Amino acid sequence: MTDPRQHSPAAERNRQPILEVLQRVLPARGSALEIASGTGQHAVHFAAGLPGWTWQPSDLQADALASIGAWCARADVGAPPTNLRPPLRLDVMAPDWPVPEPVDAIFCANMLHIAPWPTCAALMRGAAQYLAAHGMLITYGPYLVDGVATAPGNLAFDESLRARNPAWGIRRLADVTYEAARVGLRLREQIAMPANNLMLVFERTGQAQQQAHSGPA
Ligand SMILES: C[S@@+](CC[C@H](N)C(=O)[O-])C[C@H]1O[C@@H](n2cnc3c(N)ncnc32)[C@H](O)[C@@H]1O
Repeated sequence: MTDPRQHSPAAERNRQPILEVLQRVLPARGSALEIASGTGQHAVHFAAGLPGWTWQPSDLQADALASIGAWCARADVGAPPTNLRPPLRLDVMAPDWPVPEPVDAIFCANMLHIAPWPTCAALMRGAAQYLAAHGMLITYGPYLVDGVATAPGNLAFDESLRARNPAWGIRRLADVTYEAARVGLRLREQIAMPANNLMLVFERTGQAQQQAHSGPA
């Protein structure tokens, strides 16, 4: 029987630096929903490294769900962490998410640039709807930062994404924070990560803000 587990070398490399940020910014316990879990390598690692949290992985695609399920069930990491939930099928674009009660954190890595731009507003809307009061949305990935020269590697990556799908591409940080502010999510912290990535920590304030904005690139 074939093993449905997918392997992402990037996820293997970045999972520990991401976990260390999560361990610093999150409280000792809570419930987390991961959007766009991909292979599932992150979910297994984060659940193991955050024993006070329940970790709920999810994805849109059937092959990703099979991979996440297999990573969750496999015992490479000893017994699978008991705080790791089986994956949910969740499309951020859906008006309702299969989330029965508010969660304390939503985590989403590497989706915004490999999905059409409207997924950003959908992610923010869902976070505002499903996060508990003062819950956090944490994203990870590459962003274009106004006034900061983009690393050559990210420029080439952006070009390759747009060549694969014109609706994809690395997003401007200013556009992402604008969509967040519209639904009452404030950027609390921006953390530089290896390989020219950023982690963004948004917190729910409950107050949507009106801002002047030029719109996405
Ligand atoms: C590059 S992978 C990132 C996977 C993982 N988070 C990581 O960092 O290794 C992008 C993921 O986004 C998911 N995705 C794309 N559009 C989505 C949507 N509308 N709702 C939920 N997930 C989506 C894809 O299925 C894919 O698993």
